[in-house]
Amino acid sequence: MKQIAKILTLSAVALTLGACSTGLDRSRSLGNPQVSGHVLAQQVCSICHGDVGNSVNGNSVNPTFPNLAGQQAVYLEAEMQEFHEHTRKDDAAQAFMWGIARDFTPEQIKQLAEFYSHQTPLPNPAAAKADPAMVAAGQKIFNEGNLEKAVPPCMACHGSNAEGNGPIPRLAGQHADYLYKQLMVFNNDAEREAEHEKNPSMHEDIERAHGVAMEGIAHGLSDEQKHEVALYLQSLK
Ligand code: HEC
Ligand code: HEC
Repeated sequence: MKQIAKILTLSAVALTLGACSTGLDRSRSLGNPQVSGHVLAQQVCSICHGDVGNSVNGNSVNPTFPNLAGQQAVYLEAEMQEFHEHTRKDDAAQAFMWGIARDFTPEQIKQLAEFYSHQTPLPNPAAAKADPAMVAAGQKIFNEGNLEKAVPPCMACHGSNAEGNGPIPRLAGQHADYLYKQLMVFNNDAEREAEHEKNPSMHEDIERAHGVAMEGIAHGLSDEQKHEVALYLQSLK
């Protein structure tokens, strides 16, 4: 949490600096529609999602911040739109991305998606530390699903190397901690939906409104299985 507080302070500084900067090629101003997506990527997004302007482009070092390099453009656009509209609202989304996305223009969203989808994803250095038995168990889930709970194979949608396709995200090389956390968001959304069905007067407050396809799937994996499949995905290149 200390680390996150530090980063939040850093980004607040970046935003304040943006207010003083005039050159559009160096601007950190998130409220100026004239600033291009490429400049925003360089000056703002890089603080958390990995440096821009060198080989690291969009490969983050901290697992709180997802890698964006090589992600599907359609998916990136959809998520930025969701942060902008507040339909993706887990704690980290609210704390980190709502402010960033507040004044995004459709043009900036397009440019940012284009930029990050064309960056090269790097192998995840954390993969070397993962327990090989857990990675192997995760591979089985990825390829075969979890029959017992009617969970389909992940590869059926995410692709045989988890490269994604359009609105279905690339998962290969993504930080295991981030993937696990998102699986928990979908899992908890499934439980919220079920409770809402039992008690329709209750507010359902789904955290990833476009994640319906993932709810039953995440709910059909045990905590252990979520960790295993996340570690396997992190190991993919
Ligand atoms: C202060 C840190 C920070 C900055 C700066 C930041 N992000 Fe994020 N971003 C995050 C965090 C944290 C998440 C994960 C949110 C979650 O867990 O739901 C995220 C998630 C995302 C996602 C969703 C990725 C996925 O796999 O679903 C996209 C797309 C994104 N950010 C784009 C951007 C862009 C574009 C910029 C710059 C204009 C930017 N971010 C700047 C912290 C940041
Ligand atoms: C029926 C198709 C389908 C199957 C099968 C599927 N997924 Fe997904 N998955 C999706 C879609 C669509 C999304 C995007 C959801 C959104 O837009 O909120 C997604 C999103 C995700 C995310 C969030 C990624 C991010 O960057 O935030 C994770 C993690 C994930 N899936 C893991 C899995 C795992 C693990 C399995 C297998 C156990 C699996 N998926 C099986 C369709 C599928």
